Amino acid sequence: MLEIISMRVNGKDVELAIDPRESLLDTLRRRLGLTSVKKGCEVGECGACTVLVEGEAIDSCIYLTVWAKGKSILTVEGLKSPTGELSPIQQAFIDEAAVQCGFCIPGIIMSAVEIVGAGRRYERDELRKLLSGHLCRCTGYEKIIDAVEKAVEAKLASQRAG
Ligand code: FES
Ligand code: FES
Repeated sequence: MLEIISMRVNGKDVELAIDPRESLLDTLRRRLGLTSVKKGCEVGECGACTVLVEGEAIDSCIYLTVWAKGKSILTVEGLKSPTGELSPIQQAFIDEAAVQCGFCIPGIIMSAVEIVGAGRRYERDELRKLLSGHLCRCTGYEKIIDAVEKAVEAKLASQRAG
């Protein structure tokens, strides 16, 4: 039996009739066309499907859409400014050449949003641990860590400025 749920996705209210067994990954990709949310392992191992639910990074492949009822979801599509500019975190990934094939990157960027949002500096080993739920077959991870460090520093600088 289908269930009607409403949630907020990238700042817009949506109402959907869903199968209670449906994953948030399938709802976001198939029904809402948010293809930044990648389908990788589908068992919570690769991090490609990471989105924020109420500001917390989760693997959307192992998160049922019914659990998101009444909650706020953020994907990469929701990061750009109203005028279409990339967010500072996305720009940091470009500046640091942290993107190769790109498959893992939207999920990593969403974890980076959570990390940057904490408003504090991390050691590189701490960042490695925080991002350890993400698999990347291309970059060797170092440039990804560089990008996240750069985004954290930019956020701290903007906080200091005011
Ligand atoms: S597709 Fe969700 S963790 Fe791999
Ligand atoms: S950039 Fe290709 S898997 Fe990470």
